[in-house]
Amino acid sequence: MKILLASSEIHPFSKTGGLADMVGALGKALARAGHEARLITPLYRGIRERFPQMRRVDWHFDLPLGDRHVQAALWSLEMETGLVAYFIEQPGFFDRAGIYLENDVGYPDNADRFIFLSKCVAHLARYLPWQPDVVHVHDWQTALVPVLMRHQQSAEGWGNPPPACLTIHNLAYQGVFPRDTFALTNLPPDFFTIEGVEFYGRLNCLKAGIVFANIITTVSPRYAREIMTEEFGYGLDGLLRRRQKQLLGILNGVDYDEWDPAHDAFIAHTYSLTRPAGKVACKLALQREMGLPQGRDAPLFGTISRLADQKGVDIQLGALEEMLSTNLQFVLLGSGSSAYERGYAELARRFPSKVAVRVDYDEALAHRIEAACDFYLMPSRFEPSGLNQMYSLRYGAIPIVRATGGLDDSVIDLTEDATRANGIKFHEYSARALAKAIRKALALYQQPDLLRQYRRHAMKTAFSWERAVGEYQKAYESARSLRTGSRLS
Ligand code: ADP
Ligand code: GLC
Repeated sequence: MKILLASSEIHPFSKTGGLADMVGALGKALARAGHEARLITPLYRGIRERFPQMRRVDWHFDLPLGDRHVQAALWSLEMETGLVAYFIEQPGFFDRAGIYLENDVGYPDNADRFIFLSKCVAHLARYLPWQPDVVHVHDWQTALVPVLMRHQQSAEGWGNPPPACLTIHNLAYQGVFPRDTFALTNLPPDFFTIEGVEFYGRLNCLKAGIVFANIITTVSPRYAREIMTEEFGYGLDGLLRRRQKQLLGILNGVDYDEWDPAHDAFIAHTYSLTRPAGKVACKLALQREMGLPQGRDAPLFGTISRLADQKGVDIQLGALEEMLSTNLQFVLLGSGSSAYERGYAELARRFPSKVAVRVDYDEALAHRIEAACDFYLMPSRFEPSGLNQMYSLRYGAIPIVRATGGLDDSVIDLTEDATRANGIKFHEYSARALAKAIRKALALYQQPDLLRQYRRHAMKTAFSWERAVGEYQKAYESARSLRTGSRLS
């Protein structure tokens, strides 16, 4: 099959979170399964310098954006057999210091930037000589593509457009903009209705995708069920329930080329199930690097995260406050909300021999933390899939997670299956419940045989992209069979 994937961030070109990892790995896995995959993403600042092999394509965009026309150029990079990446070069929109924001403030023209990106995707889907069998878009930034394609089919004589698949990575971000932003889409006014892209008088890009995509997926089976409830639906649960026959949950895989301690170039000592010694060496190295007292016996907990409400930062700060009277160490790598950044910095100031905090975004350090930790904390309020708990399993850092979304689908607690337990789960969203889970971890740490058994189960757990690609292939096939009508069918 020929699949055109579009995303506002794709690893290894740009990344703010798991979206980039997921789309990069999906493209690669599709190509390795014998499909042809092409990626579309913006040419952000610095990408061309890091990938000098990319070539300018003989292609010129000149697309309406409200009452103006915007031009752009196209670059391409052959990544491996069956996998090509396209980059939209529009310096005014994309040659900036950040992807979505700078100094904590979102760019005021994010609607223009990503509506324009979506128009480029629909344009390429229609005019590229390489005609895709399916167009797969991700999150709100490209979620207008299905409606733009649908409009071109009915109004501009695009005979047989490919079906569209939308993946929701996070329903909390919908791309909602003031009513007059709708003009930037250049769609006729009859799309701006409650049955279309309107949401309480405003434009909702993600809703557009949910209404007009032929098939909708999200990144774990449990999150697929959760987003149909009021609690997790952010106002779109009713619509999602109406489309539930076309809604699928497919758990993300892990790119083990990048995330495996047996051959991780970022860590000082590689290790594996059969050669475990390197893990302690990684722990000692990280303690030194982060300025914590070195010692193999102190249980080391870690977190790598965007510091946002979603990630359960408030209960984590509360639980650590309670638990720091015990003999544990904690390292955090994260950035985001300045109040949360301050909260962790304050904890590190008060407990310098137990807490080390790095407010930063640092790919290499993220790998070193996974390799060093005994336990990984991920107490999310909600979590569509979550990748760090999966990485932690492979690195033998036992995940402590709240039983929600993809965390629940990927970690096995003792109470669920004693023969395969690989992590610790808690349910209630509270500092007290998390502190109790941390106490269980400390008890486990005192039982070396049991800890070894958990580690063995954890490191053997595999979230293969082959499995996920098989499920996406079925989703694409059903999108093709549904292509004739999904407008709130
Ligand atoms: P989300 O996409 O909601 O942030 P995921 O668990 O799916 O959560 O993915 C997060 C990804 O971003 C992981 O690859 C993680 O290592 C990375 N990441 C998050 N924060 C940082 C940071 N401060 N430095 C380096 N990598 C980070
Ligand atoms: C989103 C979600 C996260 C998921 C990632 C990749 O950022 O918050 O749970 O793992 O997308 O699908």
